[in-house]
Amino acid sequence: MKVVITRHLPNDVTKELVDNFDVVMWGKENEPIPRKQLLEEIKDADGLFTNVADQIDYELLERAPKLKVISTMAVGYDNIDINEARNRGIMVGHTPGVLTEATADLTFALLMAAGRRIVEGMDVIRQNEWNSWGPFFLTGQGIYRKSIGIIGMGRIGLSVARRAKGFQMDILYHNRSHNKEAEEELNATYCELEELLTKADYIVLLAPSTKDTYKMIGKAEFVKMKQTAVFINTSRGTNVDEEALYHALQSGEIFAAGLDVFDQEPIDSEHPLLKLRNVTALPHIGSASIETRIEMARLACENLLNGLKGQPLVHEVK
Ligand code: GLV
Ligand code: GLV
Repeated sequence: MKVVITRHLPNDVTKELVDNFDVVMWGKENEPIPRKQLLEEIKDADGLFTNVADQIDYELLERAPKLKVISTMAVGYDNIDINEARNRGIMVGHTPGVLTEATADLTFALLMAAGRRIVEGMDVIRQNEWNSWGPFFLTGQGIYRKSIGIIGMGRIGLSVARRAKGFQMDILYHNRSHNKEAEEELNATYCELEELLTKADYIVLLAPSTKDTYKMIGKAEFVKMKQTAVFINTSRGTNVDEEALYHALQSGEIFAAGLDVFDQEPIDSEHPLLKLRNVTALPHIGSASIETRIEMARLACENLLNGLKGQPLVHEVK
């Protein structure tokens, strides 16, 4: 059986796949396989190891009559046409759980960086703009005992809330359903979205990307936020109306934003959002700790191996 791996991975991670199957692996780590090449290689493939940067759409699936398993090295799978895969009897595996704490760490790092203007401070030094101590020089928003509003209280949301608890923050959340663990362990309060937006000092978006969450935070939502609000997005760029976000940041409707994800990735370095001093932007590195990425790669391999051997995946998208 043939397996296509769309990024270069270390040998010790891919060993079992290589020992069992005919593996074709793209040779680069930080550059995607050209679409044309992927469409060619997929024609006779039984398994596909993919990531958030590949579009696994109708066109690709149509060309892959033998495909049995798609395994993505990510928790999110909005880049995969799940319905079409299901129609064709293709199993889809993903990697929840192992990236929860790393992503919560990065989310909290962005929250602190945006609130306290940390990256801006470094820019000031680099640009030789640090003239003297000033009573209100680079003053930002406090974090300790402020309120945090988490939109999307899944595994990562809960882990962010635990970090917030350490800062004695008041925890509000909005989710499709109540999260008992968050309420009992952390005293988190369930809110309608509107109430969360008006009350929270830090608003953290962690909802998955679906048709219901598409641009769920836009003009009407930014208007409701406090002028001191700090908005963090470590979910998917498509959940936010970026034009409305730009306007809110530029006009002072909100204080700052910390963004790890964008509508178009990689974001163009000339994008208007990146010209704003009150934006802290990162290149989609939520889960990027060394140990977490190794665990994700191993889990994605295991999903693929299991599926090709006719066994249940460790984590299957249902
Ligand atoms: C990364 O964004 C992931 O979904 O794992
Ligand atoms: C993702 O793992 C989530 O449920 O937050």
